[in-house]
Amino acid sequence: MTEQIPAEKLLQWQITAGVDETIGDIPVNRFAPVKKTDAPALGDTESAPVVFAPTPQQTESAPLPPPPTIALAGQAATLDELRAAIAAFDGCSLKETAANMVFAAGNPDARLMIIGEAPGAEEDRQGLPFVGASGHLLDLMLKSIGLDRTQVYISNILPWRPPANRKPSESEMALFTPFVRRHIALVKPDVLLLLGGSAVSALMNTNAGITKTRGRWMSYRDGDTAIDALASFHPAFLLRTPAQKKLAWRDLLTVKKRLAVQP
Ligand code: URA
Repeated sequence: MTEQIPAEKLLQWQITAGVDETIGDIPVNRFAPVKKTDAPALGDTESAPVVFAPTPQQTESAPLPPPPTIALAGQAATLDELRAAIAAFDGCSLKETAANMVFAAGNPDARLMIIGEAPGAEEDRQGLPFVGASGHLLDLMLKSIGLDRTQVYISNILPWRPPANRKPSESEMALFTPFVRRHIALVKPDVLLLLGGSAVSALMNTNAGITKTRGRWMSYRDGDTAIDALASFHPAFLLRTPAQKKLAWRDLLTVKKRLAVQP
């Protein structure tokens, strides 16, 4: 006889796996005939940034023009000014669909700065990074190496939630990366922990992917500054793929060892 699993347990399992929404933000007509088209996917067109969109002449691989955010980010002399500059920036349509901006959490004097991808549903509700199911796992991961949120500083590549938690587009990441780079320059961490492929490709100038880049020290460069950066799997990925937790555990131990060495 098959075992009956209570609905509450099934729901709990889904929440733990990161399924925290029952509907998306964009209605989908599943009865509409599927047309073959070269147009970008629905999520991309709906929330592409209004200012920094590639022109029709540009091919996918053509270099993107310098984002207008470089100058804005450069003017921020403090974290408060940076937060205000990002909040005032209207050049991305994600701001219109998100409920709250997510800037950062934790200790800005920490030696370890953690950078994720983008806020999810719970982060969007609270205006804080990593406070949903992924955040819960991140807290456990940090605890495993003796750290908590008062000893790290946490931010994301995007400050606004992409609708329906879709992956950030390349142009959205290019638009916000100057703010993230300024964020790092103001915090001046000794070590960067990059969670997931988006953080790696935005900050390390590589499309090698997280499987290839994780677990090896890289050097994050900004002018004369070089910061040790380690990539690891994103907690949301680990919730879906728990077998990879052992590699993430190794990465955390690598970070712990590096933090044990005073600069
Ligand atoms: N995933 C992220 O990358 N960042 C968050 O803040 C939450 C989930």
